[in-house]
Amino acid sequence: MRLGLAVLTALALAGGTGASADELKRGELLFQGCRSCHALEPGRVAMAGPTLDGLAGRLFGAAAGFDYSPAFNAMREKGLRWDAERLKAYLRDPDSVVPGGWMSPPVGLGEADRAALAEFLLER
Ligand code: HEC
Repeated sequence: MRLGLAVLTALALAGGTGASADELKRGELLFQGCRSCHALEPGRVAMAGPTLDGLAGRLFGAAAGFDYSPAFNAMREKGLRWDAERLKAYLRDPDSVVPGGWMSPPVGLGEADRAALAEFLLER
């Protein structure tokens, strides 16, 4: 009985620590769908979208050298910064966060996918 409990506890702990690493891994895999337009390295400007390096707490529309839509420039001037809630909402419906911006809504992502992507982009 004692042994049984110890095994269960060990499994629970393994599950607990594994979950977040799995989430990051899943976010990284999902990000492959964004890579045609977004880099994760600083200063990559020759792409359709801005680099998403260091997104946590970054001002909206602030990747150096990227030519943003007027909608994004307006958000930057208002001082809006990225966090998990804004990122998940943006990936569900970009227009609801940045009305008139240029990015199309990503296709085929569920709520859990958006959460994994947000975790990956903000905490990797
Ligand atoms: C077809 C190209 C394209 C794809 C694919 C794409 N994006 Fe974008 N993304 C853009 C463009 C263009 C902008 C800038 C929009 C503007 O200036 O209005 C942008 C902006 C963003 C921003 C705001 C960055 C900042 O500097 O404030 C985030 C965050 C973002 N995209 C995340 C994603 C994620 C996550 C995915 C994948 C699920 C994705 N995008 C897929 C083109 C794309």
